[in-house]
Amino acid sequence: MSNSHSSNSYTSNLYSPDIINQAKQLLSKMTLDEKLGQLSQISSAGAHIPHDLADAIRQGRVSSVINEVDLATNNELQRLAVEETRLGIPLLIGRDVIHGFKTIFPIPLGQAATWSPEIVEKGSRIAGEESATVGVNWTFAPMIDIARDPRWGRIAESLGEDPYLCSVLCAAMVKGFQTNDLSSPGSIASCAKHFAGYGASESGRDYNTTNIPENELRNVYLPPFHQAAKAGVASFMASFSDLNGVPATGNQWLLKQVLRDEWNYQGLVVSDWESIKELQVHGLSASEKDSAYLAATAGVDMEMASSCYIDNMAALIAENQIEETEVDQMVLNILQMKFALGLFENAFTEPSALPELLNAKNLEAAKEAAQKSCVLLQNKSRHDDSPVLPINRGATNRIAVIGPMAHDGYEQLGTWVFDGDEKHSVTCLDGLIALAGKSVEIEFEPVFSTSRDRNIQNFEKALELTNNVDVAILYLGEESILSGEAHCRSTIDLPGAQVELIEHLSQSNTPIVLVVLAGRPLTLQPILDKVDSILYAWHPGTMGGVAIAELLFGDASPSGKLPVSFPRVVGQIPIYYAQKNSGRPPTEESFVFIDDVPVRAAQTSLGMAATHLDTHFSPLYPFGYGLSYAEFEYSHVNISQHEIKLGCAFVVTVTVENKSDVDAEEIVQLYVRDLVGSVTRPVKELKGFKRLLVKANSSVDVAFEMHTDDLAFYDIRNQLNVETGDFLLGVGANSSLELNVPFKLVN
Ligand code: GLC
Repeated sequence: MSNSHSSNSYTSNLYSPDIINQAKQLLSKMTLDEKLGQLSQISSAGAHIPHDLADAIRQGRVSSVINEVDLATNNELQRLAVEETRLGIPLLIGRDVIHGFKTIFPIPLGQAATWSPEIVEKGSRIAGEESATVGVNWTFAPMIDIARDPRWGRIAESLGEDPYLCSVLCAAMVKGFQTNDLSSPGSIASCAKHFAGYGASESGRDYNTTNIPENELRNVYLPPFHQAAKAGVASFMASFSDLNGVPATGNQWLLKQVLRDEWNYQGLVVSDWESIKELQVHGLSASEKDSAYLAATAGVDMEMASSCYIDNMAALIAENQIEETEVDQMVLNILQMKFALGLFENAFTEPSALPELLNAKNLEAAKEAAQKSCVLLQNKSRHDDSPVLPINRGATNRIAVIGPMAHDGYEQLGTWVFDGDEKHSVTCLDGLIALAGKSVEIEFEPVFSTSRDRNIQNFEKALELTNNVDVAILYLGEESILSGEAHCRSTIDLPGAQVELIEHLSQSNTPIVLVVLAGRPLTLQPILDKVDSILYAWHPGTMGGVAIAELLFGDASPSGKLPVSFPRVVGQIPIYYAQKNSGRPPTEESFVFIDDVPVRAAQTSLGMAATHLDTHFSPLYPFGYGLSYAEFEYSHVNISQHEIKLGCAFVVTVTVENKSDVDAEEIVQLYVRDLVGSVTRPVKELKGFKRLLVKANSSVDVAFEMHTDDLAFYDIRNQLNVETGDFLLGVGANSSLELNVPFKLVN
């Protein structure tokens, strides 16, 4: 097997020669103290400027302020920096603008379920513009940690389990935040985080150890970050996590060899919140001075929140532990971003130059994102298998709305919503009432006070209501606080007594629709046969209520697809589609359910394969899964050549037919398997996708323009290569499809 060496060096520069020269000119004028002052990001005091912060700025000891969102305060902070310091270096104002500022979009995991770079880019554009109106010029997004463990609370902020989908959407987010001109009004610097491997935190406990072999790191966890660098992301954030024994924040291999030497990245690297100080807690350093030394020599340019740099760098230089030239490069990385943002031309914010917050266009975009993020997981009556959704308004007189997530404009916003406000939310109940029309009577019974409530006193009232309506819609799930940073769960069932409620209501013959609002996949297996339809809405943001109601009434067809596999039980985790085959892959034949195991069965009689005895080896729902009100059929999957020379392009085509009388969008997915490699290869990998409208009773021919370089991977020598040999491909509706089109790469 031979190979062609794909280039993995990154050539284009992040900043123009003019920006670089301006930064170098300024650097040449700076004293050592002024240089060291550029390495620190200070936490804001919240809409006011304490004397010590003002003095620190005047002394040139502050490069950036995090979490200030009061416009007048930010303009005063900039005035202090620009007018009351020797060199007038403006400030970076950083904020976690993760999925919206005032207009809140679905959580990133929900946005990933749209599989739409266009929707994701628009959402980030709006978030950037809205946050810029208060003087923010730097967001700590996109979060592009590959997440394959739904116990981990931060899966909510991620773009899911797949490197390709994550890479495409992350580039769209970078473009959305930064536009093509970082200095243009409303553009803000973005930040690829958390570099790297944070999503592999053991047992899904946040901040926990990660052990990731280099080959897996390079083939799974690093590609989205490499894509972000190629997309021109202005900064990277080093992760809290211990990566193979060396925390990312002090990891020279990661921050120097990979990011700088291999990828030639020239942007700013910021620590995570006090992650430099935490190197001592990890046990990598014996003091804050050691921590400063390790982080600086590893390649962290700016320190967030703690003061190891500002307290120790002068001594480290005086003791010749760190060269001033190393500090010069750190400062240059920071100044370049400030110049590129146009802050030296104008550091002040005039909000009238920007669109109004929460304007109709922004709200419409948030509604579209929410609508296209929802995933229809099930839609058949538990009595006769007929579809229960969409609800026919004309044939419906009474609807029951049940559950604690139905009318909670705060919880539907999701995690990382520092600046959103529930008063702007359209709740699920509001949205349903607004779209149902006057002829439909809607009655609301929350049953619980929270999703964790175990009080069942309202069960009978809820059953009575359910028995007396045409359809019962249950809005259940998790509050936003149950996912996000540091909010991990060891089980991922519906919390509280929600399962018991569903079981109780399933006694009724009334059709039951379950809408789940959650920040992660939940293990729904116990309730599948207790409800008729299941719509997964994640935490859908400000306009979630309208978006969900539009889908329930059929004003649009659900079109979202899962960006992450749903496990049957928590014991299956990690479970993801792009797994390796192992030497004994699971098969239906090899699976013997535990209840069917004969007493005293012979040791080798149960089939010797990579399965559990008590749970089927497949996920509850596979990556890429999502139903529609339409019925799509795939045919004529073809490849332009069955023997393809390395370095050549090829085309994969498929026909998608909508056999229903409902117009709908479908997300067509292309998967490939490299049958033999110098390292084992996943049983399939997503290599292309297209979201497209297929009108009722019509067909669309879809073409994927491919190149053999798209099949590159890090080989046994951890070099990016494309290897000759046999491949299979398939195109279909989700990752459970069979790959049945063979092709071969040849020299
Ligand atoms: C947090 C998070 C990081 C965030 C930063 C600033 O601890 O890990 O994602 O951007 O601190 O809030």
